[in-house]
Amino acid sequence: MESSATQLPTAGRPFIHGIFSRETGQPITYRLYDFTPAAFETKVRDFFKPDGRGRGLNITAPHKIAAAELVDELTARAAHAAAVNTFALRSDGTLLGDNTDGAGLVRDLCDNESIVITNRRILIIGAGGASRGVIAPLLALSPTEIVIANRTSERAEQLAQTFEKLGTVKGVAFGRISGAAFDLIINATSASLSGDVPDGPAGAASPATVCYDMAYGKTETPFIRWALKLGCSCALQGWGMLVEQAAESFRVWRHVPRHERRGTSKL
Ligand code: ATR
Repeated sequence: MESSATQLPTAGRPFIHGIFSRETGQPITYRLYDFTPAAFETKVRDFFKPDGRGRGLNITAPHKIAAAELVDELTARAAHAAAVNTFALRSDGTLLGDNTDGAGLVRDLCDNESIVITNRRILIIGAGGASRGVIAPLLALSPTEIVIANRTSERAEQLAQTFEKLGTVKGVAFGRISGAAFDLIINATSASLSGDVPDGPAGAASPATVCYDMAYGKTETPFIRWALKLGCSCALQGWGMLVEQAAESFRVWRHVPRHERRGTSKL
């Protein structure tokens, strides 16, 4: 039940949900769909039409912000993010929009990788739908500050304003990133999709910096290669986040927590 207009390696998602299905005894069929932005709303409405079998969808770039406009109700975390990665059809026929990206990222960083967020400086590169979903859950862990850097600085500034009541967060252009090296740098841009690496300034990272790419691939992403070139000790791709956000989506659809969450987090 995946909508993707990209060539991201989404093939793993049916596999992940197949494992959840077996673990919980909940039968589901999970398929990949490729919707263009122009056809997105029609395709989603068709998928959930009353006589259809569609019960839930995951949404990925570039549809997450448009998805928030389509639902009857948003969960609090999706409303905060103004971005949706999970649709769930409720028994009364209404559509719920949720965002499980933040929970997935935090679980992978903190539970799976034992990375500390509290009192740490975090740089998020990118100010699109992927960033929106993770800022509030990260701020909830009380980092010293979150700096959002984006190619288009206005988007970073606007995004920071949206979350400023939740903690110390500021938005800057790539060229305006300043201060000591960050403890954690998260790539939330879609640059990897085109094989690009965002212009992360070299001074933002030190050997102690953890770099995390929310994107993932069969080989190292350009961001991971950038991090390793700068000597960062830890450079992680977002496979763990993919599994954890999928587990959370599965819980939203089926109301069953995955009983052995850590068991599949290293898929
Ligand atoms: P998503 O839902 O994946 O976040 P999006 O809302 O289209 O998709 O946002 C894509 C993000 O990746 C944006 O921050 C975009 O920067 P701009 O706002 O300046 O467009 C960023 N991005 C995409 N390609 C990039 C590239 N080659 N270099 C740097 N940033 C890039």
